[in-house]
Amino acid sequence: MSWLAEKNLVLGVTGGVAAYKAADLARQLVKAGARVSVVLSEAGARFVSAATFQALSGNPVWTDLWDDRMSNSMAHIDLSRGADAILIAPATADVMAKLAQGLAPDLLTTLCLARDCPLLVAPAMNRQMWEHPATLRNAAQLKADGVVILGPDHGEQACGEIGLGRMLEPEALLELLETYFAPKVLAGTRIVMTAGPTFEAIDPVRGITNSSSGKMGYALARACAQAGAQVNLVSGPVALASPLGVDRVSVQSALEMRAAVLERVAGADVFIGVAAVADYRPATQAEHKIKKSGEALALTLVPNPDILAEVAALPDGPFCVGFAAESQNLDEYAARKRAAKGLPMIVGNLVQDGLGGDENQVVIYDDLGRHPLPRGPKDRVASQIVSHLARLMNALTSPVTPCTTST
Ligand code: PMT
Repeated sequence: MSWLAEKNLVLGVTGGVAAYKAADLARQLVKAGARVSVVLSEAGARFVSAATFQALSGNPVWTDLWDDRMSNSMAHIDLSRGADAILIAPATADVMAKLAQGLAPDLLTTLCLARDCPLLVAPAMNRQMWEHPATLRNAAQLKADGVVILGPDHGEQACGEIGLGRMLEPEALLELLETYFAPKVLAGTRIVMTAGPTFEAIDPVRGITNSSSGKMGYALARACAQAGAQVNLVSGPVALASPLGVDRVSVQSALEMRAAVLERVAGADVFIGVAAVADYRPATQAEHKIKKSGEALALTLVPNPDILAEVAALPDGPFCVGFAAESQNLDEYAARKRAAKGLPMIVGNLVQDGLGGDENQVVIYDDLGRHPLPRGPKDRVASQIVSHLARLMNALTSPVTPCTTST
């Protein structure tokens, strides 16, 4: 589920090269379910035409303060009424200066002055313009006025220089907007999580692993961070970027994962084990590549420690959430794992539903019973798991609040 679904957003586009990225941003916002009205400054229109934004947003584009398409000719007021937020991306040094001073020479700045919704700006400019005391002063003033500044990013700029001033990529802006709108049901919570597979080396080039992609764990880490939690993610080897705002440490083996978890778990409020930790590892790891021979080769495996069970048994340990990946008898096996490890909550999934792909279908088990969630993209499933977790934790801290169940 996207927190941008059904949101009314005004996207202000001012005159910077990054305006071309705003076209992609408009597309991604619409894809996430937002209704987007684009307000293009005169300089912005020199970089990307109104027709592009109209096609991508599916809505008329606004450029002129004196536009009489609104029934009462009050575009500067009507456009922001009913808006959930105005986002200016790219925001030039010039528009930031005008906003900081309350100047309103055109439609976009007038709209910002006459708004009754949050304003977010994504600066985009040459690094020296960004570092200029006037710009930094304006950015500080905007922050003090309650404007949310997203970025800027560091990197190569259109002029060829390298430094701070690039507009954040559309994907990053989208993620920040999602975070902005997500209900902060886990605010003040510190969560340690595991995700991905582990890799148990046999020799320097071979090992035992599994086909966990990390997608479920990373989606859950992102959803927890968006819900306001501080997230420490201990990740096995995956090809995924860290979710925004999540502190990630990468490990290979189950033993490394255990050590990284135990280092971080003291004082944590919640521990969530999404990782598909190898139950066994080779008893020894060959120092050099094992040479091929015509003979059969036997590998001796020894059990790995169970990280989740160990954390769940800690005195004054965190609220523990396990995952159970089964290929059959989900209810029975998941319930058995929950009982064996003493967990208040476990999320069960069939490997054929959840392993590797972009979607999952899970059932949550807790003291109140069995709560199936509908099949869906892993980020939507993750948001629903977060809501359930927040309700359970809330019920623990305020016993009068009943925990809503679905069956
Ligand atoms: O990564 P994806 O491709 O998105 O796939 C997601 C997933 C299927 C891997 C995920 O949804 C999932 O089910 N993760 C748990 C997989 C698993 O190893 O389940 P298990 O039933 O073997 O283990 C039960 C619980 O104990 C898990 O929380 C596991 O993290 C934990 N465990 C297991 C063994 C071990 N040595 N240490 C542990 O902490």
